[in-house]
Amino acid sequence: MVIISIELKSANPNAEKAASENPFSQYREIVKKNLSNVGKVIAVHSGKGGVGKSTFSVNLAAFLAQKGFSSGLLDADIDCPSCNKMFGITERIKSVDGKFVPIEAFGVKVISAGNMVANSDEANVMRGPMMFKLIFELLAKTDWGSLDYLIIDLPPGTGDNPLTVMQLAPLYGIVVVTQPQEVAVVDAKKSVNMAAKTNIPVIGIVENMFGTIFGSGGAENAADSLEISFLGKIPLEQSIRESSDAGIPDVIKNKKLAGIFDSIISEAAI
Ligand SMILES: Nc1ncnc2c1ncn2[C@@H]1O[C@H](COP(=O)(O)OP(=O)(O)OP(=O)(O)O)[C@@H](O)[C@H]1O
Ligand SMILES: [Mg+2]
Repeated sequence: MVIISIELKSANPNAEKAASENPFSQYREIVKKNLSNVGKVIAVHSGKGGVGKSTFSVNLAAFLAQKGFSSGLLDADIDCPSCNKMFGITERIKSVDGKFVPIEAFGVKVISAGNMVANSDEANVMRGPMMFKLIFELLAKTDWGSLDYLIIDLPPGTGDNPLTVMQLAPLYGIVVVTQPQEVAVVDAKKSVNMAAKTNIPVIGIVENMFGTIFGSGGAENAADSLEISFLGKIPLEQSIRESSDAGIPDVIKNKKLAGIFDSIISEAAI
């Protein structure tokens, strides 16, 4: 595991007072500076696990790259990262001159904690403060060059790790991904509420895995009732799962899925 330590010092005498009012303001400023050449930073979230956040993030980043945008992806799921696997990246991240160097796959610059351990079975076992430090360093010390879009794949829940990203990163907004069934939608609503509590715009909701198993329409109903945009729906499809396992964003070769993503980004007006 590569960890680059950063000293938080400021020449501004008022900085300490400001920092005591908002303990993250100094961190946020450092992150903002590091991401100053990134056009839009978009996080992908849902309260519920396993609904397809990472699949959506990987395919969105790859689709944007395919459209000719410069695109990056930060896998902020430190405990159980999966974007490295979904992009087929096995090499370890290097640091050069104190900066992490993203690994490029399918035209996307990717950083994942899954590429910071010796092998894919090694667990990142750490408590909250260490997680905070690592997420901060990924945000503050990755050399993205200049990007049109940085997609941040968040872990599920409304706890420490997604909260850290929401408080530290200059987010343009979040996209909430949910399956259509009620058990998933109830947690997607919590994600929308978390964004409101942290003053982050919700770009909209995407329904993933609709079909005979999980049903259809739950995300659109939730979007209507919460008065937020419904961005589109992605079917439960074997090829999407198989491509994830094979380390290929399905959107690269699945024309129907590419059409869905085209429509999602146009609904999202990003
Ligand atoms: N539309 C889909 N059709 C078929 N399989 C899908 C679809 N979307 C996601 N999957 C599969 O479902 C599984 C869970 O997806 P994924 O890991 O993206 O969810 P997640 O929300 O990121 O999970 P976690 O909460 O653990 O981070 C993966 O195996 C993925 O390949
Ligand atoms: Mg995930």
